[in-house]
Formats: sequence, structure tokens, C-alpha cells
Amino acid sequence: MVVGLDIGTTKVCAVIGERGEKGTLEITGVGVSPSTGLRKGVVVNIEATLRSVAAAIEAAEMMSGREVYGVWTGIGGSHIDGINSRGVVAVTGRNRETREITEEDVARVLEAARAVVIPMDRQVLELIPQAYIVDNQKGIRDPLDMIGVRLEAEVHIITCSVTGAQNLIKCVNRAGFHVDGLVLQSLAAGRAVLTEEEKELGVALVDLGGGTTDVLVYSEGAPYSTTTIPAGGSQVTNDISIMKNIPYDTAEKIKIEAGSCWEDIRSDGIDEEIIVPGVGGRPPLPIPRSEIEMIIRPRMEELFFMVKERIDAALSRPPGGGIVLTGGGSQLLGAAELASFIFRLPCRVGSPLPVGGLVEEYRSPVFSTAVGLVLEGIQRASVPGDRDAPAREGRPLFGRIGDWIKKEFF
Ligand SMILES: Nc1ncnc2c1ncn2[C@@H]1O[C@H](COP(=O)(O)OP(=O)(O)OP(=O)(O)O)[C@@H](O)[C@H]1O
Ligand SMILES: [Mg+2]
Repeated sequence: MVVGLDIGTTKVCAVIGERGEKGTLEITGVGVSPSTGLRKGVVVNIEATLRSVAAAIEAAEMMSGREVYGVWTGIGGSHIDGINSRGVVAVTGRNRETREITEEDVARVLEAARAVVIPMDRQVLELIPQAYIVDNQKGIRDPLDMIGVRLEAEVHIITCSVTGAQNLIKCVNRAGFHVDGLVLQSLAAGRAVLTEEEKELGVALVDLGGGTTDVLVYSEGAPYSTTTIPAGGSQVTNDISIMKNIPYDTAEKIKIEAGSCWEDIRSDGIDEEIIVPGVGGRPPLPIPRSEIEMIIRPRMEELFFMVKERIDAALSRPPGGGIVLTGGGSQLLGAAELASFIFRLPCRVGSPLPVGGLVEEYRSPVFSTAVGLVLEGIQRASVPGDRDAPAREGRPLFGRIGDWIKKEFF
């Protein structure tokens, strides 16, 4: 059993995945609870967050009939930062004559690439190998067993604030659960929604959340740039609430039910009126849909332009695989159309790719991160103590026997 826990600014979501008899993954439980203890993806209220975490996991437990102990927790927010680095080592090899690259050489080169100066208050969250260079031969995905003298690694290092991570872990622990591992939210979402082809071509994943918009750019199959913009769907709702002088909750309802950011999407050509219930004895107020759109669109444009700026700064040429929008905000009517217009690239809305047991209701961009955390958790759990290395199929027999002895006798 692997459990993914996505702690977002607007909702906390827990997903329980279980391995079926044939080794296939089955999603057996999903639980969602509103979240009030975060601001812009960062925990600001431990008590409120732990209550949301407990409620979401309890709901997922009820659905699957299983008890949860450990969770793979997503981390996000404006304190996340990504840099590219490289390391180089001389190949020591198994024997001096042939100089075959061993797992040890790969571990050493990754360790060398990790040696970047990061401030005391930050920690390395992920170290993702992009490609290796063996004796000037570039673009090698797996250098193991190759023969060479010099081994170089290109890596993407994602860092986060130490206290940000600690507070998140504290919430999960105080809710009564163990953190199996912290995973970058957008990395998890990318695993759930992106195809291998898109990652190879280069693609920008844009997670439109409530408090933040996370951008993860893939180039040649590996993460290349990670950034967060501290604005999201809540700003859009806020705009409607302020401009129309209505409560936030009403504005949120209007946005979800009648909002759009692309005029041509309403092909019927009729500008319907939405009746907004009056507050404090005031009469109900009719608002034309076009007026809502005029509030939403500039904010979404601004957000997409900020994303475009970040992508342009990271890449020298536009990503061939286009833009994939995900997260709750991507459900806004016309979001993909507006994004294609601004980025001048093909855009699509990404929902979790089919996983066994995941019913239609949860195959929505809102659950991309949570489903991705389960997938990421399964992969990482099967490569113990070797989280930084690319996953390999199966493990050596000795390792497995060793594990069995440890489990049975110690
Ligand atoms: N159908 C919809 N149309 C428009 N917006 C929507 C729709 N459904 C959800 N949203 C918006 O999506 C946002 C929430 O998205 P999501 O659940 O991905 O955020 P989160 O993960 O809680 O937050 P974050 O990732 O920023 O920490 C809210 O602002 C909400 O208004
Ligand atoms: Mg989110």
C-alpha cells in the first residue's frame, strides 16, 4: 500500500494505492478535505493543517477499508527553487584495465554534482540526473557498465526552505502519520499527467493551484527548470469578490459555475445573466457573464505572461511538447485557449493518465498531484536508499535475500 498526500492551499487530498495480484496499481481510496492552514503553499497554521490532513486521510481510509500509517507527502510553495549543476569524476572501475563504470562511480559523480553552495536555511529536496557524459560522449541516460575514463553528470537540484519542510512534516506527524518521503508537488503532478513523448520533446507543466502556480519545465526527458509564482486561483476569486462587492464564497461559486477567460468559448453568442444572491437584505444582483469574463481574463493573462517570462528565461527555444495545464485552476473555462494564445504553443489540460481503480470522478486535474505522489512513492519505495539514482527494474538477488534476512531475523 502506498499513500499520496497532497497538502494544498485550498484542499488536502489523500490517495491510497495498492498493488494488485499481478503487480498492477489499483487506487482504492481517495479523501479530500478543505484546507485553511496554508498560505501560498506554506504551512502557517499547524493546528488547522493537521486537522485537514487527518480528515482527508480518514475519508480515504473509509473508502478503501485500510489503515494508513505512512504517507508520501507533496511539498510546494514559493520557497522552492531549482538550479542546474554538473559534477565530474575519474572512473575507478571494477578493474583498472577495462574501466567499466560501476554504481559506485555513478554515486560519486552525483555527489560531486550536489556540491553547490546553498544557504544554511535551505536543503536539497531532489537531485535529478538529467544526462551523463562519458569521455565527451554527451546525452547518455544510463552510463552503468560503459567503459570510460571520465564521467560527468548533469543534474537538476531542487531546494526548499528547511523550516518549510519541517513544519509540513510536523503537521503530518501530529496528525498521527509517518512521512515516508517528501516529494516536490509539481514533479508528482508531472508523473501523473505528462507522457514520455512530451517530456522528450520538452514541455512546461503549469500547475494552477489556489495560492501558487508551479512551473516545471522538462527538456530532453528530464526536469530542467523549477519555479513558483506566488499567485493562483484565489486571486481570480478575490478580484471578482472585490469588483462586484460580494463575499468570497459567492465569488468562488460564480467563477466555477459561470466563469471563463476566453470569449469564443461561449459559442451560443448569448450573454446570459447570472443572478447573484443579495447580501444583508440587498436585492439579488444580475451580472452578465461577459462582465465576469472581463474581470477574470486580465488576471489570467497576467499569470500566463509571468509563466511565459519564466519559461523563456529557462529555455533557449520553446518547448516542442507545448504547455500542459493542471491543478484546479486549469478547469476554468477557456484556460487552455487563452494559454495557447499567449504562449503561441499547443496547450492542453492534463488530468491523471489512467490508473487502475481510479474512477472517473477523480480523473480530474485537481487530483494530478495526489495521484502522482502515489506513483512517485511506488517508484521510490522500490529503490531503497537510492532515491537519487534513476530507477532500475528489479534488484540484485543478494540485496533481496539480504532484505529478507533482515526482515525475518532482526
Ligand atoms: N471548475 C473550476 N473552474 C475554475 N476554477 C476552479 C475550478 N475548480 C477549481 N478551481 C480553482 O482551483 C483552485 C484550487 O486548485 P487546487 O486544488 O489545485 O489548489 P491547491 O492544490 O489546494 O493549492 P496550491 O497548489 O496552490 O497549494 C481554486 O482557486 C479554485 O477556485
Ligand atoms: Mg496544488
